[in-house]
Amino acid sequence: MGILDFEFIKGFARCAADGAAMGWHERNGGNISYRLKEAEVALSAPYLSDVLPWQAIGTEVPHLGGEYFLVTGSGRYIRNVELDPEGNICIIELDESGENYRIRWGLRGGGRPTSELPSHLMNHQVKFLATGGKHRVIYHAHTTNLIALTFVLPLKDEVFTRELWEMMTECPVVFPQGVGVVHWMVPGGREIAVATSKLMETYDVAIWAHHGTFVSGEDFDLAFGLMHCVEKASEVLVKVLAMGGKRQSITPVDFRQLANDFNVTLEERFLA
Ligand code: 13P
Ligand code: ZN
Repeated sequence: MGILDFEFIKGFARCAADGAAMGWHERNGGNISYRLKEAEVALSAPYLSDVLPWQAIGTEVPHLGGEYFLVTGSGRYIRNVELDPEGNICIIELDESGENYRIRWGLRGGGRPTSELPSHLMNHQVKFLATGGKHRVIYHAHTTNLIALTFVLPLKDEVFTRELWEMMTECPVVFPQGVGVVHWMVPGGREIAVATSKLMETYDVAIWAHHGTFVSGEDFDLAFGLMHCVEKASEVLVKVLAMGGKRQSITPVDFRQLANDFNVTLEERFLA
């Protein structure tokens, strides 16, 4: 049994392979991060090296000081993760200030974590605080249909939430808080990380206009499943628009009844 047999590495690799099979990860598009459990850090200890230097994250996440993350490498192809985890992903450790990281395992031959590390870690911090540490996965994918919709729909949380909810009955049950939208911004830095993590205070889904989607979840199944749901609802909407638009739909009265029967709260601002 080696580190590649550990469940969290296998789960990570399966999420990567499934995302690639969905067509969401052209070239090096998209990235994944997972916050290790204490027991997983202990289990990994014999495989960790401490020779690589500390580097600046490019933002600060003080509440995550000392935590370990499994993350994809920058420029690495998601489709290659399952074939060669050690060449394409890495375990990083954060220092106590939450301002620096160092690579402890992986990215054999050199490399650095995803350029979206600031967004991943700031989202992790928001969810760590909001869920009492339950959420461990942040996943960014280049979801084709959702990207297409950002060229057509007004870039408003209320509009995207309502339209996606209407496309599949289970959507409001899967993401009752709705989805947030970040207007186009330069990716890969602190500014977009701040904007995205602000939305993550309210939602588990943040759409990057003309770019892709970030989701947060407790585990790989929930994060992948959430990405799959919002992207499938987007695909339905693209088809509906291509067929000339809605002629009938789920109404606000229907949503209120659904919310009642499924015991979820749907904010009225999405039903207006
Ligand atoms: P990385 O290869 O640095 O992870 O970047 C891919 C991407 O999707 C940027 O938004
Ligand atoms: Zn991207």
